[in-house]
Amino acid sequence: MTIDSKVKIDELLANRWSPRVFDPSRQVTEEQIISICEAARWAPSCSNQQPYKYIVWNRNNNSKDFEKAFGTLDEGNQNWVKNCPVLVLAVVELNFNNGEINNWAEYDTGAASENICLQATSLGLYAHQMAGFDTDKIKNIFNIPTGFKPIVMIALGYKSNDLTLVAEKYRKMELSERKRKPINENFFDSKWENDLIKIRD
Ligand SMILES: Cc1cc2nc3c(=O)[nH]c(=O)nc-3n(C[C@H](O)[C@H](O)[C@H](O)COP(=O)(O)O)c2cc1C
Repeated sequence: MTIDSKVKIDELLANRWSPRVFDPSRQVTEEQIISICEAARWAPSCSNQQPYKYIVWNRNNNSKDFEKAFGTLDEGNQNWVKNCPVLVLAVVELNFNNGEINNWAEYDTGAASENICLQATSLGLYAHQMAGFDTDKIKNIFNIPTGFKPIVMIALGYKSNDLTLVAEKYRKMELSERKRKPINENFFDSKWENDLIKIRD
């Protein structure tokens, strides 16, 4: 899926994408899973706290627990995640080791999770993050302790070109153009809301 950008960005960034049509016949290897976890491990974090835990469910190794994790997803997500071989849950550790609130914990977990997505891309895999899951349910099923907040579920696997693998609604999403807000809406030059890119002839 191509992107429309003012200037060329690194291919790894441009190729990262959140597809919904995954190949149910292609497995993710243990080495690939370790590789994406290593990528997260080397993300920057405030005071090097590394305020996250990740739970990985590989359908091919442990289908029972995979199904339990899958069962916490919203119906809309289940519709396409059913073809994914791996789910990864990102959990935020809310406090620093000294017990004080870590205001950057979610920020740091987001950075680590983006590393997962990019490393997946570099391996030819796709990672699709989801907020659509039941946080309380997953905490209960997997005994996630107090002080830890499940923040995002990541579906991981190979993409498929067979659009019949998903319902019509997701087929349309898969084919639709990738969009972003215009650059000047979010990026400013020196002053609040001052266009970063001036109109040039
Ligand atoms: C925190 C977060 C939560 C998301 N939740 C969902 C979700 O529940 N279901 C879904 O299909 N996509 C979800 N997405 C994917 C976004 O819709 C997607 O990243 C966005 O549309 C941009 O598309 P791209 O990742 O392909 O560039 C989520 C992404 C993030 C970062």
